[in-house]
Amino acid sequence: MCGIVGAVAQRNVQGILLEGLKRLEYRGYDSAGMAIRADDGRLQRCRALGKVAALEDKLAAAPLAGHSGIAHTRWATHGRPSEANAHPHQSGERLAVVHNGIIENHEALRDELEAVGYSFASETDTEVVAHLLEREARQGDLLGAVQRVLARLDGAYALGVIHADEPDVVIGARKGSPLVVGVGIEEAFLASDPLALLRVTDRFIYLEEGDVVRLAAGGEITILDAAGTPVTREIQTFEHGDGAASKGEYRHFMLKEIHEQPTVIAAALEGRLGDRNVLVESFGPEAETLFAGVRQIHLVACGTSYHAGLVARYWLERYAGVPVQVEVASEYRYRRVVVPEGTLFVTLSQSGETADTLAALRFARDRDYLGSLAICNVPGSSLVRESDLTLMTRAGPEIGVASTKAFTTQLTALMLLTLALGRLRGQDPDEQAGLVEALRGLPGLVRRVLSLDPAIEALSTAFGEKHHALFLGRGAHFPIALEGALKLKEISYIHAEAYPAGELKHGPLALVDSEMPVISVAPNDELLDKLKSNLQEVRARGGELFVFADAEVGLAEEEGVHVLRLPHVHEALAPILYTLPLQLLSYHVAVLKGTDVDQPRNLAKSVTVE
Ligand code: G6P
Repeated sequence: MCGIVGAVAQRNVQGILLEGLKRLEYRGYDSAGMAIRADDGRLQRCRALGKVAALEDKLAAAPLAGHSGIAHTRWATHGRPSEANAHPHQSGERLAVVHNGIIENHEALRDELEAVGYSFASETDTEVVAHLLEREARQGDLLGAVQRVLARLDGAYALGVIHADEPDVVIGARKGSPLVVGVGIEEAFLASDPLALLRVTDRFIYLEEGDVVRLAAGGEITILDAAGTPVTREIQTFEHGDGAASKGEYRHFMLKEIHEQPTVIAAALEGRLGDRNVLVESFGPEAETLFAGVRQIHLVACGTSYHAGLVARYWLERYAGVPVQVEVASEYRYRRVVVPEGTLFVTLSQSGETADTLAALRFARDRDYLGSLAICNVPGSSLVRESDLTLMTRAGPEIGVASTKAFTTQLTALMLLTLALGRLRGQDPDEQAGLVEALRGLPGLVRRVLSLDPAIEALSTAFGEKHHALFLGRGAHFPIALEGALKLKEISYIHAEAYPAGELKHGPLALVDSEMPVISVAPNDELLDKLKSNLQEVRARGGELFVFADAEVGLAEEEGVHVLRLPHVHEALAPILYTLPLQLLSYHVAVLKGTDVDQPRNLAKSVTVE
């Protein structure tokens, strides 16, 4: 989604805003803009179609200067990407606003404003907010104007506002979209993600739903809650460090994040494993009591996180004996859901801000669930704050839009959940101890698989001219095949589908010919023989096969069959390990095709609108 930055500082804010936009570009990147109040009271604005670099070029030619300003990088919802639709939006020459989210009643508000003489310069829903604010600001101060306008808006949003008549003031508001305040030394900042501000501060206030904040000269921060009451919110220190915001030695964030997996998986396990079992307390002090009552699980997520949930179903049913239903959040939230007694509601999300997942959690709160657990990567995110229990995945900030390390740490966390529930539900202690031992060895195995990168890169050349690909897997590796297909389509734009290998004969086999590469994951588990015969079916139709197989599996390399051997791993953890070659394959195919790996077209990292 869109990214917002705002600043009231002792220095010129242009550099702070531009740096913030670069760091937020993963949220949306079809256009960008900034507005700064000059010291003589004029509002200056600069906007550009395309990436933040285009805005940077324009600013280099005609810099802005001042001590307060707002900026935005856009992911189009209402109105195509264009300079006219880029934020900030102004009403006249005195007021500018940036907005993330959707104003659902914008059409009615637009009619009302047009009727009293406002004319619109864009197709966006945001422009109504600019005009409403301009009208209200004539009646008093900007903070009061924002409060009165918010009462008229339906939908989800985060806003940043400046007015020519209020020197060194930025107003922010959040409802349904994330917004944090950065606390500087006699300076104050605003952003939709703390990452944007790590150059200027590591101290943040995570605004609550309905909060309005006024930043003013000297670092003054005033927060009013949804009822308009002044409140003090805790200042939290950002723990991830700033390294995550740069690519370092890597060509792309995605590659860097793929290679961080041994470290972040180890971080996800740290302090959560006992000698022979998982420490249930990792899920919080109330976890043991809550988990003891679990009879079923409803697991809800979107995108890659949903695929992690699908893997977890196999684990939770097999090792913890708990029935699990997994569903995409956008479907779940509009369904009449039956909630059997003792059902735990689990959400999975990298960002903790995905609109549908958050809405699903709020929907579930009004149902008869035992409680809610969020497995999430962003401390302080809405999902974390609104759930009964949380387990942080500790992947560190993920910048590449295609999720990699966030996924494998989610899987690691889900295995911890499986074992925590297993422990309370009578899982064989030796089985649990074996899995705990295997988890300890996982970062090392992940490192070994990553060392196969050159061989995977060599395989990728076969995909350069292909338009379609088919991914096959069985059991818990079917969701891994889904995730492999998603990665390939997201970043290389090759159409890819995934099937449980047993479904091949029921349709997709009709598509198999020499132009359809077939990728399969073949760990050494109980379904291996069945998978081998599925692969024969593909070979018999001339399909070229790419098999990622256990080193101990007797699959021979032959014409049209490429086999890449992975180190042997505990069967339960194979889905984590077999994800890695699929990530690397997609990465190299995308590089080969010359696509924008970290910021693929039409996508956004954090989907904070429905
Ligand atoms: C977007 C991202 C995906 C992500 C999905 C869910 O589509 O591009 O990478 O898997 O949102 O996001 P979440 O933050 O809830 O895991």
